[in-house]
Amino acid sequence: MTDQSNQNHKRDRRIIPVISMMSRGRLCFLIVMLMASSAVASSSDTNDPLSVPSAPLDQRPSGSINFCAIGDWGGWEWFPYFTYAQHETAIGMGRVAETLNSQFVVALGDNFYHSGVDKGDSYRFKRTFEDVYSPASLTKIPWYVIGGNHDHYGNITAQIAYSQDNPDGRWVFPSLYHSHSFAAPDGSFTIDLILIDTVDLCGNNEIQDEHAEGYFDPLPLKEKSDAREQWKWIEDQMKASTADYLLVGGHFPVYSACSHGPTETLIRHLKPLLQQYNAHYLSGHDHCMMHYEEEDVHFVLSGMGDECCYEAPSREHHLALNPEPSALKWLISKENKDLYQAIGGFTSFQATSQEMKIQYHDHRGNVLFTADPVPPRMKSGDKGDTFDQARQQEPQEVLA
Ligand SMILES: *[C@@H]1O[C@H](CO)[C@@H](O)[C@H](O)[C@H]1NC(C)=O
Repeated sequence: MTDQSNQNHKRDRRIIPVISMMSRGRLCFLIVMLMASSAVASSSDTNDPLSVPSAPLDQRPSGSINFCAIGDWGGWEWFPYFTYAQHETAIGMGRVAETLNSQFVVALGDNFYHSGVDKGDSYRFKRTFEDVYSPASLTKIPWYVIGGNHDHYGNITAQIAYSQDNPDGRWVFPSLYHSHSFAAPDGSFTIDLILIDTVDLCGNNEIQDEHAEGYFDPLPLKEKSDAREQWKWIEDQMKASTADYLLVGGHFPVYSACSHGPTETLIRHLKPLLQQYNAHYLSGHDHCMMHYEEEDVHFVLSGMGDECCYEAPSREHHLALNPEPSALKWLISKENKDLYQAIGGFTSFQATSQEMKIQYHDHRGNVLFTADPVPPRMKSGDKGDTFDQARQQEPQEVLA
């Protein structure tokens, strides 16, 4: 597999010094987690039935591209540097990745709580990432990574540098924003994945304490000119894409009914691009999962890598920026998590030349929700000719 990711705009980020005090709540949590960690060892050999079709290794149809996406998975900053829910969710994702023969993982940011990493050889890479996502189905495949707000509190350059020296070679984070093209093994269709840095586009919340007032306030609206270079790159990438499925991934959501709510900058500036180019959007940030569909654009919120869930305190308020409330197809938040008994979660994608199936999974890997099938771009509009011509070109990244 050749990787011709766009190496763009590497830059150093100012480190915002953080003095994090261990609150009493966190201390209690640590104790509970240490007690629970004895259960961790035995949970990997559970035999819960998976409600996803079984496709053993080597028998997956060559006309498919399958992958998983996970956001907000970054453990925590105290020993043992992962959370119980994160560990369980990693096992569940390992099982689904194996069942689907997943070809890659998209990591949607907030990779290291609470303030990123400080240098390239940080023990956090081992304790929060390598040791936790250890099932073989997750170590043998690339992880396409972007940063979240918590990563930007630390040294994001160190996370980019880790792409060069991670032991399994799976950490692919060549620059703040990067894109990848995939072709089905039988050449029948292609996917373009454009990963963007939404902190650069929208700014960051300077309040880092989840329990402090203002933590869940909306981000201020930013002008496009504030991140002119990246916006131009995004539009160029989308315009140039000839893929059958065009996916954009970023940390901040466009829409969210959960605590952080929607991101106005992205509604104003990204949503029109998604509509124009018939693309779909993957995000994290809010510790919930939500499927949202507006004018043929699917919005996937997958922010449960570390925990379930934030509150969805006022759907009306947070969806106020959207004129079409029926666009909200499914949501798991603090209010209904008991129904699902979920402590974490992630999403899976199964694409063929006919359709792409998007599923939301709990920490065990069980399917909580399946979205309406997503048609390929060729079938959905007036751009068929262009795509057909462009399909003569060789895709950049061929999956074995
Ligand atoms: C950030 O990480 C990079 C890569 O490891 C390192 O070269 C740089 O010195 C770090 N910056 C700071 C301010 O620590």
